[in-house]
Order: sequence, then C-alpha cells, then structure tokens
Amino acid sequence: NGALLSVDNTFASPYNQRPIELGADFTIESLTKYINGHGDAMGGAIIGKKEYLDIIRAQSQVNLGATISPFNAWLIMRGSVTLPLRMRQHNENALRVAKYLQTVKGVSFVAYPGLESHKGHDIAVKQMQGGFGGVLSFGLHADHDTYNRFVSHLKVITSAVSLGHDESLIVFLGENDERQYLYPEEFHGGFFRFSVGIEDAEDIIADLEQAFAKEGLL
Ligand SMILES: Cc1ncc(COP(=O)(O)O)c(C=O)c1O
Repeated sequence: NGALLSVDNTFASPYNQRPIELGADFTIESLTKYINGHGDAMGGAIIGKKEYLDIIRAQSQVNLGATISPFNAWLIMRGSVTLPLRMRQHNENALRVAKYLQTVKGVSFVAYPGLESHKGHDIAVKQMQGGFGGVLSFGLHADHDTYNRFVSHLKVITSAVSLGHDESLIVFLGENDERQYLYPEEFHGGFFRFSVGIEDAEDIIADLEQAFAKEGLL
C-alpha cells in the first residue's frame, strides 16, 4: 500500500546487519551506541533515499534545530573508524558470555539471537551477516534485592543504562518496569540487559562468576 518501512538498527550496527539491503526504506542508527563506540558523544543518523532525506533534513535541522555539535560529530567520526574491529570483539564476547550464562544454575533464561535456543535464531542467521551483536538479556532465579546485590558485586562490568560502549554495561529492569508489556513472559519477574563490551572475555566471565558465587547462584 505504499507504506514506508523504517528499521532501528542500533543494536545490530551496520557491521552486522543492513536493513536497506534487506528491503527497508530507512535505517535509523543511534550513533551514540556502537558507531561512536566509546560512550562519550551523542548523535543519530537516518539513512535512506535522498528525496525523503531532503524533507527530513529541512524539518528536523532547519525547523526543529536537531543539529549535532561539531565536537560530537568529530568524536563519532573518529570512533567509527574502529567499528568493524570493535563489532567483531562484541560479537565474539557476547556469544561466549551467553553460552557461559546458560551453564549457570541460578540463571533462569538467556536471550541472545546468536543462541540456537532463541526463537529468532534462524532469521538472525539469515539477516545478521556479521554476527549477533553485543547485547543480551538474562534473568535470575532470585528476588528484586538479589538482582540489585548481584550488580553491586561487579567490578569490571558497570551498572548503567545505554549500550554499545567499549566497556560492559549492565542494567536491571525490575518486575515493575513500565515497559513490561513489550517483553516476553519469561522477562516479567525482572531481568538484566547486558551490553557486553570489548574487554577480555575471560575478565567479563570471571566478574560475573564471582558475583554469582557471592549470591550462591552458581
Ligand atoms: C534501539 C535504540 N534506538 C535509539 C536510541 C536513542 O539513542 P540516542 O540516545 O542516541 O538518542 C536508543 C537509546 O537507548 C536505542 O536503544
């Protein structure tokens, strides 16, 4: 019916997946995340046909003033040079961490498109040609306070929102999260969103392991 399709590709990054090549009209990328990659600048990009982008540019930049600062633009261009190198490390680390989490007794579920257990795995294999990205989610057989204590034990992984930084970031989304309706059933008791960084995978796993041990979850 002539509708235009726009895909937010932030979690995958263009290294792993290119929605326009798969038939979308627009791709949106939060440059704040993987493309800058260092957690120190904010920006966004819309990729699509010039005829549409000219309209978007006039509306958002001229009329609304959504114009990136030169310093942020410079940081993002500088950071973006290493995107392929970083993504390869994010992909490899996240897959290793996801597989490790599947072996932990206190973990109730692991959601990562690179795992065969993920219900979107077959589609992900077809359309994510570089890898499956650095973001995964997991739940614990634990109550709200245990989730919070688990995070407080972490030394390498930082408790913070956002994703796609060089360093590992974890955020606890509790059972009262207002976006509950967006999540599959198994997420409803609370879960972690984990943006696996580019540190040595052994260090990330060791950090998780000592936190699991402190809460008797191994
Ligand atoms: C999927 C996705 N798209 C877009 C954004 C917005 O990014 P920004 O903070 O650069 O506006 C976010 C932020 O978390 C995101 O997760």
